[in-house]
Amino acid sequence: MVVLLGPPGAGKGTLAESLCAAFGFAHISTGDILREEIRQGTELGRRVSACMESGALVPDDVVTAIVAGRLGQDTVRQAGSLLDGFPRTVRQAELFDRMLASGGMALDRVLLLEADRDLLVRRLTARRVCSQCRTVFNVIFQPPGRDGVCDRCGAELRQRPDDMEATALERLAVYEEQTAPLVAFYARRGVVVRVDAGRAREVVHRDACVALGLGVLSAERDGKGS
Ligand code: AP5
Repeated sequence: MVVLLGPPGAGKGTLAESLCAAFGFAHISTGDILREEIRQGTELGRRVSACMESGALVPDDVVTAIVAGRLGQDTVRQAGSLLDGFPRTVRQAELFDRMLASGGMALDRVLLLEADRDLLVRRLTARRVCSQCRTVFNVIFQPPGRDGVCDRCGAELRQRPDDMEATALERLAVYEEQTAPLVAFYARRGVVVRVDAGRAREVVHRDACVALGLGVLSAERDGKGS
């Protein structure tokens, strides 16, 4: 079980997708799960939408319950998990510890993705997501073949509301205040490995494989996710 830690725009979702494609891990992204709840108009989605659109974190108990549900699934436990976006506060990390202990599970590594702040802002504000199949593009770093159109399914690409510059900056501030303390929290346990996430996706993928002791993959499979 690996936790992907890093600021908004560091490439957690991008890396998770390529690692899961290569190794068959289960990708547990609390952000994706919450956005899907909003899209489907569920009660949970209605509860968290204002919070997410403002760039604030949703309550610890809400996300912890989501993760507990996913980790309780047999298929997820067998595949091994990549947690993307959880835990995000020290309180969530403590609740996660309890969840792991009660389920007889253990956290193997925390992979910290590090990148320059200006680059993070550029990546976030340039991100576009397919309104149908959820494929992620970037108008600077990974543009679609046709402006505003998904290469994979032809549907419209949209900007996440929380990727508007003011909200992206707020999310980066929230990360520094509430999530960055987790680096020291996990470093004390000796489980943190670091990757320079400011480079090309293929390089980040390769370095992550090495840092996690997964071995280096063939070029055909390297970093093709997202
Ligand atoms: P969430 O969806 O988790 O957002 P985030 O952590 O802010 O991360 P992002 O999705 O913005 O960035 P990423 O690091 O995954 O980057 P990506 O790979 O997409 O959370 C959203 C909200 O949900 C939160 O604000 C909060 O409200 C709520 N929430 C979620 N979890 C929570 C929790 N545990 N507790 C409380 N609230 C929670 O890449 C970004 C862009 O850069 C893309 O366009 C991509 O194509 C591009 N890119 C990526 N890597 C590279 C590269 N190496 N080179 C060039 N371009 C790249």
